[in-house]
Amino acid sequence: MKSGHLREPWAILAIPVALAGTWALVTLAGGVYGLALGASVLAAWGIFRIGALSRRLREAEAATAREASERRELERALADHKQRLKMVIESEPECVKLQAADGTILDMNPAGLAIIETKHREDIVGKSAYGYVAPEWRAKYAEMTERVFRGETASLEFRLIARSGTERWMKTHAVPLRERDGSIWAMLAFTRNVTDRRRAEENERQHRASVAHLQRALSMGEMATTIAHELNQPLTAIVNYSRGAVRRLRSGQGTLEQVIESLEAASSEADRAARIIRNIRNVVRKQPTRQERRDINQLVQGVFAYAYIQAELRRQAIRSSVALAEGLPPVEIVPIEIEQVILNLARNAIEAMASTAGRDRELALVTRRGAGDSVEVAVRDTGPGLPPRDAGDVFDPFVTTKPHGLGMGLAITRSIVDAHGGRIWVERTSSLGTTFVFSLPAAAAD
Ligand SMILES: Nc1ncnc2c1ncn2[C@@H]1O[C@H](COP(=O)(O)OP(=O)(O)O)[C@@H](O)[C@H]1O
Ligand SMILES: [Mg+2]
Repeated sequence: MKSGHLREPWAILAIPVALAGTWALVTLAGGVYGLALGASVLAAWGIFRIGALSRRLREAEAATAREASERRELERALADHKQRLKMVIESEPECVKLQAADGTILDMNPAGLAIIETKHREDIVGKSAYGYVAPEWRAKYAEMTERVFRGETASLEFRLIARSGTERWMKTHAVPLRERDGSIWAMLAFTRNVTDRRRAEENERQHRASVAHLQRALSMGEMATTIAHELNQPLTAIVNYSRGAVRRLRSGQGTLEQVIESLEAASSEADRAARIIRNIRNVVRKQPTRQERRDINQLVQGVFAYAYIQAELRRQAIRSSVALAEGLPPVEIVPIEIEQVILNLARNAIEAMASTAGRDRELALVTRRGAGDSVEVAVRDTGPGLPPRDAGDVFDPFVTTKPHGLGMGLAITRSIVDAHGGRIWVERTSSLGTTFVFSLPAAAAD
């Protein structure tokens, strides 16, 4: 059949058929093509997917390898770190130990073993730490352990007994070691041998005590000189009062009252002499001289009332006054020493006025509140004033302008005031008179 032969009648028919066939073919082809296309797209996508997957796989592999190497690195670093830590702990000059709540030693570094005097861990590990703590420190050590197992850090200085029985001073700092869940499984303790430091401190303390004692003994040397001077006066007074009493009794003149007065004055002077001696004995024997809480006003009044002072005031026609401030805080003092201070100042004042003829003589004792929390006592006279400075500092020992003076009164007075934490100074001096003042710190409130 010739395709171009259109004249054939069925050829007319052939056209739609052919068209239909072509369409069918085209459709079929299209479908097939579509399928093929779809398939190839799918395939391409699949290939693409597989590519992506395998790439990811490769990446994952690389990452895993990287991670593994990182982890290896980390493990190595950790191992290094642990090793270094171990080395540090092992070579640590302090004792490093792990201890359980009941005192059992879980581990200890060589420095610790050396302190306890062994080379073998087995001698120590598994044993109780309390075996090495001096008995009087065990309660404190237990307290520290308890605190650490409560989650606190703690430190303690205690005496340790080594295996040979040698005792050492140790200082421990302890911290809790926790599990992941937060519970405490051990106490980590760093303990240092502080025996040398403690010994140095003890030496220092003893040194200070002996220096202080030496100083006191030295000033006692000075005091002994002053005491001879000071005792001389109550002894003279005792002799005079007793003789007066005897005279009155013998002569039958004078009242019983006067005799009693003389004897009482004599016995109060004897009391005072005895107290002066007792105080010196305490200082020399290193016995603590007893500080007492006292009212300064009472002390000043007591000294003022001394028979010797009163007799001298009368004999030299010296007017006197005592002005006491109210509401002063109490002072913590060795009473006999502060009495001595007031007495020395009063005596100097009286002695100074002996030379001032033909003018009003007056002795004034004043108490007042001082700077800060202190009290002050002022002793004022109307004497000729202090000698010129070039004669020497009146507070220095052996500086005197008196023919029979010892020049110890003000020196000892100043050392007593210093020893009480106070101060002494000349507030005013002129040809019209002199005022000495000393201050004492107020006693601490209880
Ligand atoms: N209130 C005073 N007025 C004038 N001079 C004084 C006064 N107090 C002390 N002095 C002087 O200070 C010196 C030293 O006094 P002190 O140490 O008590 O020794 P002493 O009384 O044995 O001389 C005295 O000799 C005197 O010259
Ligand atoms: Mg004197």
